[in-house]
Amino acid sequence: MPEPEKKTLTRRDFLWQGLFWAGLWASLLSVLRYLQIPSRHSEIKPVSLLFPAAMELNTVQAFPAYQIWLVRSPEGFYALRSICTHMGCLPDWKPQAQEFHCPCHHSVFDLRGLRQRGPALRALERHRLFWGPQGEIMLDRSVIYRHELEGWAQPGALLPFQS
Ligand code: FES
Repeated sequence: MPEPEKKTLTRRDFLWQGLFWAGLWASLLSVLRYLQIPSRHSEIKPVSLLFPAAMELNTVQAFPAYQIWLVRSPEGFYALRSICTHMGCLPDWKPQAQEFHCPCHHSVFDLRGLRQRGPALRALERHRLFWGPQGEIMLDRSVIYRHELEGWAQPGALLPFQS
């Protein structure tokens, strides 16, 4: 009786299988990241950023240590995460255009953090802001607000001016 033929894995098959599984894994991670709901990370402590008078209207101040931009808009302050929602690169603030430009695949977000063009499908995320005891702006990075999940309607996503 003839012995069944053994199928050997060629180098090409091996590479294709590796690419297939890597692609599948990357897709799965993207889906999980997209479905991420607003999360709380209690180990991250709030920090004081600055007093409101330190910023002009319609200006952006970067806080690289916290990976945010603090924006002073006519409605109040908000903290945009400086992480592109496409694949996590670090966009640049372009004051002339009043936009955030991602250098990796050229997604563009407006001053509010809304996507204008490029492969990113979501707006930039925001962190919670609140007033400190001395009237300073406090940042709480344990809370993330996503625009597409109505998160920007939450009180901490926009810090109105104190009267
Ligand atoms: S990571 Fe920003 S556009 Fe791709």
